[in-house]
Amino acid sequence: MSLQGKARLGVLGSGKGSNFVAIAEACRRGLLDAEVAVVLSDVPEAGILERAAERGIPARYLEPGRFRTRLDEEAEQRYVAALQEAGVDWVVLAGFMRILKGTFLRAFPLQVVNIHPSLLPSFPGLEAWKQALDYGVKVTGVTVHLVDQGIDTGPIVLQEPVRVHEDDTPASLHARIQEVEHRIYPEALQLLVHGRIRVEGRRTRRVD
Ligand code: GRF
Repeated sequence: MSLQGKARLGVLGSGKGSNFVAIAEACRRGLLDAEVAVVLSDVPEAGILERAAERGIPARYLEPGRFRTRLDEEAEQRYVAALQEAGVDWVVLAGFMRILKGTFLRAFPLQVVNIHPSLLPSFPGLEAWKQALDYGVKVTGVTVHLVDQGIDTGPIVLQEPVRVHEDDTPASLHARIQEVEHRIYPEALQLLVHGRIRVEGRRTRRVD
């Protein structure tokens, strides 16, 4: 944490950045004792970069390298260097569409957080709300978890269910899921930055 006692967050995203906005607002309103120190994106025109710039938060595109679904080794080093320069305590994935591997995760052990739009371990991977509709489940939800070497497999911090309606479309279900995301991501981060989540293997425990 910085001298002011506020945790410094580095947010990574590839999309419109609505979770970033929810987190930045929670910080501004004093609901999350943190500040967003930097926003990085692998997509030059991503909305998240604009949303950050509007708020005066340093934001930049960083080249992801030669692979489509993950950062290559040099790109991982670039991202780690940018986050370390910004002095971040936590790396917050908010719609970052690339897998992070060894170099990155070793630099931030148990300090990388992700939000996933399903109740993991159901429906890992892309468009989880659509997977849920296609499968026909009656309940799906949101998971906040720490990131490990797998895809959407790390220790779970918080989960909340979202009911699937009979007339849901992918868009309507995703919209309800995102409402929950915007509430529970700041809540989960508040627990993490205050050291109130203890990790015991795959399980996490809330401590006071
Ligand atoms: C969210 O649905 C999140 O669960 C998933 O990517 C989406 C990002 O949305 N990992 P946004 O860019 O925060 O609006």
